[in-house]
Amino acid sequence: MGQARILDGKALAEQIRGEVADGVRKLKEGGARIPGLGVVLVGDNPASRAYVTMKGKACQAAGFHSVQMDLPEQTTQEELLAKVRELNADEAIHGVLVQLPLPPQIDEMAVVRSILPEKDVDGLHPVNAGNLVIGLPGFAPCTPLGVCELLTRTGIETKGCFTVIIGRSNLVGKPLALLLSRKGKGADATVCMCHSRTQDLADIARRADILIAAMGRAHFVTADMIKPGATVIDVGINRVEDPSAKRGYRLVGDVDYEAAVQVAGAITPVPGGVGPLTIAMLLRNTLESARAAAGLPSAVTHNGG
Ligand code: GUN
Repeated sequence: MGQARILDGKALAEQIRGEVADGVRKLKEGGARIPGLGVVLVGDNPASRAYVTMKGKACQAAGFHSVQMDLPEQTTQEELLAKVRELNADEAIHGVLVQLPLPPQIDEMAVVRSILPEKDVDGLHPVNAGNLVIGLPGFAPCTPLGVCELLTRTGIETKGCFTVIIGRSNLVGKPLALLLSRKGKGADATVCMCHSRTQDLADIARRADILIAAMGRAHFVTADMIKPGATVIDVGINRVEDPSAKRGYRLVGDVDYEAAVQVAGAITPVPGGVGPLTIAMLLRNTLESARAAAGLPSAVTHNGG
């Protein structure tokens, strides 16, 4: 077998971030408010802090207004809800994101439900999740949106393709299954959502034209689970100890990349695959929210049905 085509998410993310920056300039020229994103971080999870820092930098580069609220690990639910209310009421803020996971004393869903659906650029509020189920416009979660954008922009056919998603989280697996099974460009896939209790998982995975790994387990997908020539999308970002690495760990995906690249037709690397697209889609959702607040139509094609 040859070497798979490497799907460069980093380059695509830069392209999308450039488009978003253009959108911001147009808003400004039209006299509308620039997009504003409010990000709340509770506690000191190093991975969460790294993501929040990246989101702040991306906002700045795109010309957004951004606010970051850092709260201590011991923050109560009521204190956090008060911060969300503050951002909900702020007219300069069009997107509110509370970085997950949250400490155990906080009910995650209560916090997500407290975000105004029209500012829920993470697409996690039940109103947005429901809109996605029935094909109405609304915000979809950023990582699944990034996967769809990557497939569309790299010209990978999804129509009628047997697509296996391993993982059923609210953040990735479930919304991605819904997005890919909608009607339209970059969709119309035949989706099979698998998880840790799925029987004969390797057999099912081996039938996939598009195999998407999103279960959060390092190197779970091995080369024997991949149909030769299939497209493999790796959503996982796992830290594995590596004493020789600068920080004592390195990042690996849910796919055994070195082996998979010999079998797949196309594959996303980790890092540099789906990850950068997540932030690009967060910016795009926030721009969309700012456009809606200014009474402007959506600049993004909506796949319904
Ligand atoms: N934690 C990991 N990914 C995400 C995400 O997309 N949004 C939020 N809010 N938290 C996360």
